[in-house]
Amino acid sequence: MRTDGDSWDIVTSVGLTALGVAAFRALESIDPEPMIHDEYAAWFVEAAGEPRFVDMLEDPASVPVGPFGRFMGVRTRFFDEFFAAAWQRGVRQAVILASGLDARAYRLDWPAGMVVFEIDQPRVLEFKDRVLAQHGAVFKADRRVLAVDLRDDWPAALTAAGFDPERPAAWSAEGLLPFLPGSAHDALFERIDALSAPGSSVATDDFGRGLDSHDFDTEEKFFGGNPFGNLNVGDLWYDDTRAEPEDWLSRHGWSVHHASPFDLAADYGRPITDLPADLPEALLDRMRQPRYVSAEKRS
Ligand SMILES: C[S@@+](CC[C@H](N)C(=O)[O-])C[C@H]1O[C@@H](n2cnc3c(N)ncnc32)[C@H](O)[C@@H]1O
Repeated sequence: MRTDGDSWDIVTSVGLTALGVAAFRALESIDPEPMIHDEYAAWFVEAAGEPRFVDMLEDPASVPVGPFGRFMGVRTRFFDEFFAAAWQRGVRQAVILASGLDARAYRLDWPAGMVVFEIDQPRVLEFKDRVLAQHGAVFKADRRVLAVDLRDDWPAALTAAGFDPERPAAWSAEGLLPFLPGSAHDALFERIDALSAPGSSVATDDFGRGLDSHDFDTEEKFFGGNPFGNLNVGDLWYDDTRAEPEDWLSRHGWSVHHASPFDLAADYGRPITDLPADLPEALLDRMRQPRYVSAEKRS
């Protein structure tokens, strides 16, 4: 389903996954005990008008959510806290790779002087900016948007937009890695490393590792359906050879930490305890894997 140089808007291919995770952030935000607050996410769902996600917000019981929705709250919180920890250490540049409909530039209380770069495909960012402008949203950082493909020379665009490689930065690659071919995946970490002064940090979720699209079929069976309808998200992933981010970063002077979604959910006061008793061990194992990674550059 993927080809070199393919592109998408917000309701097709990889673009639809950005809309889907926004829908789950919107859902988490209206939970009685939310792990995060993203009041912007519902705007995107309404504007895109994709019936499945619109219905999900109007009637959350209408669409299967399963642990996927819960994990999205965990994931958002993990990256929110990652950026807060970076700015508390004095970092004043953030780079959100594959920003999709991430509204952190508007949502988080960034300190004065913070520059937030967002990189994604042109039609995704056009949609996002149009919706935010229609609602009169005001960003809380110096937001700089780069419509560049992450398989291309994005470091050139980033430095042209004012990124300073001499100063530490906080990088996120959230919900991205399996959508990149192995060469672009490995180049991503090499480029982050080359552009990172000591004191920089990076966070990612390596959620595709060791999976194939059939895992989703199994998940659907146990959780009542695919929240993305007919789109099997696994079909959009690359499964070619690539480095493991923790290994690669450890070998290149970064101190690496990792956590599983279950551990983080418990840390956030929302432990995930209601999984079906007959869930296959293999699926449970991979859900328990420590796929949330953060690292700081030592030297
Ligand atoms: C699952 S969404 C995650 C979006 C966002 N990080 C979030 O968590 O809400 C995947 C995002 O990766 C972006 N993406 C995937 N491959 C890309 C590429 N080669 N160049 C630019 N963006 C890409 C998509 O456009 C989409 O916005």
